[in-house]
Amino acid sequence: MTSLTGPGLALPEGFLMGASTSAHQVEGNNVSSDWWAIENRPGTFVAERSGDAADSFHRWPEDMDLLAGLGFNAYRFGIEWARVEPERGQISRAAVAHYRAMVRGALERGLTPVVTLHHFTSPRWFSALGGWASPGSADLFASYARVATEILLPGVRHVATINEPNMIALMHSLIRGAGLAADGATTPADGEHPGVTLDPGSVEPDAGVEQALIRAHRAATAVLKAADPTLQVGWTVANQAYQAEPGAAEAMAAYARPREDVYLEAAREDDWIGVQAYTRHRIGTDGPLPVPEGVPTTLTGWEVYPEALGEAVRHTAGVVGPGVPVLVTENGIATADDEQRIAYTTVALASLASALRDGIDVRGYLHWSALDNYEWGSYRPTFGLIAVDAETFARTPKPSAAWLGSLARAGRIPDAPGSGDPDGRPAAGAARVRAAG
Ligand code: BGC
Repeated sequence: MTSLTGPGLALPEGFLMGASTSAHQVEGNNVSSDWWAIENRPGTFVAERSGDAADSFHRWPEDMDLLAGLGFNAYRFGIEWARVEPERGQISRAAVAHYRAMVRGALERGLTPVVTLHHFTSPRWFSALGGWASPGSADLFASYARVATEILLPGVRHVATINEPNMIALMHSLIRGAGLAADGATTPADGEHPGVTLDPGSVEPDAGVEQALIRAHRAATAVLKAADPTLQVGWTVANQAYQAEPGAAEAMAAYARPREDVYLEAAREDDWIGVQAYTRHRIGTDGPLPVPEGVPTTLTGWEVYPEALGEAVRHTAGVVGPGVPVLVTENGIATADDEQRIAYTTVALASLASALRDGIDVRGYLHWSALDNYEWGSYRPTFGLIAVDAETFARTPKPSAAWLGSLARAGRIPDAPGSGDPDGRPAAGAARVRAAG
């Protein structure tokens, strides 16, 4: 990429700039969910429990006030199936009203809501039936989607049915497989992720779950579109920015298909596709390669590789094909060094700008995450633009929040590493990230 010193790339009209959260990771006390059950099971493989999380169940107005005040025009948040339908067929009217208030709250503040119906957590009763693998899972999810229309309409335009179905199919194999099903007590050794100490590289995604998820996505989409054909429905995929080592192109394609591409192909009839990119994965002839010794990694143990965003957007657009716009629904870095967050995001946005310049139809960028939150087993990997005090839940926006908000206000993003913020100043730490990548 070339280095620019100009004012950055002007974003298209209506481009969504904001941040993302998921229900379980910020709400707290999601007691009817399967994840809560796993976290609290004796001998669980989960290192730390979610507990009160960021208490966003009560503090969402403050979260939205902050995001709007920072200059963002969009907020992606989740609604929790386990709260809306805590027992099979029993709808909590209070939960529906709660989430409806959130939708109204976002709209009143000028934040375009991007609403996720399912983000890793399911009601306990659904998992007890066998989860996605059970017969009828698509119908059960579609029934929940029908209830969700009362939350979404009128007002919401963008809905994500299922977050990262590709990770769900892997997690299914991890959690149910290899002796974990019985009591969850086994803790397979893994790299550096301090939360869920399971290695997704070690298992094959479950093909039955893959097909069930695609059926559920389509069933829910049909229900949502029947309620309002103008709803923009899609799902969000964990992009791995796979890179083939010399001679490994075929091995990579075979590895990538069940882990990513099949879910992109399934989005060809959708209204949009969500890209979620953090790092790259190099694939050799014998499979995935570890991050080489000495290469900088994040608090989740992932290689610091911000260019993954542009690569993932290009790959996604290529597989899904023209006519399905891209929304970046997650991108960010787990770091305790907020300067590094700005540096990483500068390069990531520059790679996005380059994809936009090449004519890829990208409609928004939603940073992961709005808040420091529960990273599936640990509070240590901090992805947030806004810090959250674990005792008082006090929110403190970090410099990165003001920086990204200023880009949102200006409607511009950095154009290439070193291109700097809208004032043309070099972004702090950009050089360091380039050197690291
Ligand atoms: C998930 C988030 C998670 C983030 C960082 C994504 O895979 O959707 O829930 O916190 O990545 O690990």
